[in-house]
Amino acid sequence: MSDTNRITLRRPDDWHAHFRDGDMMQAVVPASAQQFARAIVMPNLVPPVTDIEAAVHYRERIMAAVPKGVDFTPLMTAYLTDDTDPGALREGAEKGVFSAVKLYPAGATTNSASGVTDIKNVMPVLETMQEIGLPLLIHGEVTDADIDIFDREAVFIDRILEPLLGQLPSLKVVFEHVTTKEAVDFVAAGDASRLGATITAHHLVINRSDIFKGGIRPHLYCLPIAKREVHRLALRKAATSGDPRYFLGTDTAPHARHLKEAACGCAGIYTAPVAMEVYAHVFEEEGALDKLEAFASLNGPKFYGLEANKDEVALVREPWTVPDSIDAGNGQTLTPFMAGETLDWKLQG
Ligand code: NCD
Ligand code: ZN
Repeated sequence: MSDTNRITLRRPDDWHAHFRDGDMMQAVVPASAQQFARAIVMPNLVPPVTDIEAAVHYRERIMAAVPKGVDFTPLMTAYLTDDTDPGALREGAEKGVFSAVKLYPAGATTNSASGVTDIKNVMPVLETMQEIGLPLLIHGEVTDADIDIFDREAVFIDRILEPLLGQLPSLKVVFEHVTTKEAVDFVAAGDASRLGATITAHHLVINRSDIFKGGIRPHLYCLPIAKREVHRLALRKAATSGDPRYFLGTDTAPHARHLKEAACGCAGIYTAPVAMEVYAHVFEEEGALDKLEAFASLNGPKFYGLEANKDEVALVREPWTVPDSIDAGNGQTLTPFMAGETLDWKLQG
């Protein structure tokens, strides 16, 4: 429900989040737990979360970082490698430890060195996942150095994703953090019961020119990299359409400021503290505040076969300025997305 100054909706979830570990995890989990009831937790730690034991312990560490009195459930994922044992995934799913499995093509992004080198190597694992209904979350970019960075997602669709969906006709797949019109169109033409896509807040706001506006902007660098304006507009149309295939996944990806503002800066944008406010801003600009609840709170659980959250949250029109810097412990700081900018909506907490 919405009037001009207040939006109420079922409590949202984040279907793609990076929490890291240690001090950084302590610093970022409260922001996500304040915004969302649940989050799909990415497994790209160093070393990655590949087995049940590691996932159980990581979940405990995350839970210990949730502020007292806040109700938040981390949903764990397994990091797919060339050597993943299908039996272990089956056991992890049956025990309720693994909610999904993450496929990083080796070398595609931050901490993906142990990723899959050839999709053929994981076919037996994917067949097991298809059988038990465990979703595969895909970082959809080819890694060939000879493919232009702005083309890597579109080429991935043709070379890997389309053939894979054909070979495994009932495997549930989430095309993560889509950034192109090609990806949106591909998902729109698919079967909604088995193919979905997450869309980040930042890809709805920035295009590739913004990364170079007046100088290089390391805090707007992430992977997949933001594309041309035509793609941003296609993402906005998809996210605000109400189509159940598209749902919220922030890809909040904190890196300490000194690692972003460096000669070789890390990929990842820290969006958790501003996520719902930025999505609300975009949906309002698109005249689609009535579709925000579907995107943020209903479509994701439906795809994952989970209940939507029962409780409600409110966003109020109450302008606030995003801090320039957030303490990440251990002498480190984080620069959040929209640092120093004024946002018109505020999530009531
Ligand atoms: C992510 C990270 O930092 O872990 N970076 C990013 O740019 N999104 C990895 C990923 O999701 O690609
Ligand atoms: Zn990610």
